[in-house]
Amino acid sequence: MSDSIIHTENITRIYEADIKALDSVSLSIPRGKITVIIGPSGSGKTTLLNMLALLDAPDSGKVFLNGRDVSSLSETQVAQIRNRMFGFVFQFFHLIPELTVEENIMVPLMIRQPNLPLNAHRERVSHLLAEFHLEEKVARYPNYISGGEKQKVCICRSIAGDPDIIFADEPTGNLDRDSSFELITLIQTLNKNKGKTFVIATHNENFLKIAANIIYLIDGKIVHRE
Ligand SMILES: Nc1ncnc2c1ncn2[C@@H]1O[C@H](COP(=O)(O)OP(=O)(O)OP(=O)(O)O)[C@@H](O)[C@H]1O
Ligand SMILES: [Mg+2]
Repeated sequence: MSDSIIHTENITRIYEADIKALDSVSLSIPRGKITVIIGPSGSGKTTLLNMLALLDAPDSGKVFLNGRDVSSLSETQVAQIRNRMFGFVFQFFHLIPELTVEENIMVPLMIRQPNLPLNAHRERVSHLLAEFHLEEKVARYPNYISGGEKQKVCICRSIAGDPDIIFADEPTGNLDRDSSFELITLIQTLNKNKGKTFVIATHNENFLKIAANIIYLIDGKIVHRE
């Protein structure tokens, strides 16, 4: 049996007005690999990603993390898991405009390890920014860097706390072609070099090239496509 970090059994999510956004989805997310969830707009990609990232719970069916049924966990335990084990990357970046690039990446680190001195966090951020060739942007505010740079900062922020899984919802949705390619390559490198598990919901077919596991969704259901 392959090693899965998350698996689901028949998860269904019905929004009000009887919209079945997810319809009995069973899948597993392989540890240390890149999973890409792809499908047309409205097919349930974000809904599925939110279930896997424990941001929302299914109306029926089960989600397991490391073999454990997450419905048995308390709200506090779930929040701790999200905080310590998960990193997030969003289509609209969600960087705080009043904070510099460095401070944006430091915030989740300070929440995660409040007892560590500020300088230790700063050093970690500086290493990461260098790795991403963003060291010159350290003191810039998000509104003064490009979209591609913003998303690289978001990737930095998502991995800074050394999470096990990075969830990304349409991470290239606001990037041009070149920046999209750069981001896809960056994710591939992080997966290879750091062994991080990625779960990416996207329309962008270029992600399929780096995926070890592809989930096609149509109308909330998994379809098998060659
Ligand atoms: N909060 C909500 N309340 C009601 N319906 C919702 C809600 N969120 C999503 N839906 C509906 O559920 C279905 C799946 O939506 P979802 O956002 O998961 O799709 P998606 O594949 O991520 O689409 P996109 O590619 O446009 O981001 C759609 O029919 C959508 O309109
Ligand atoms: Mg979506």
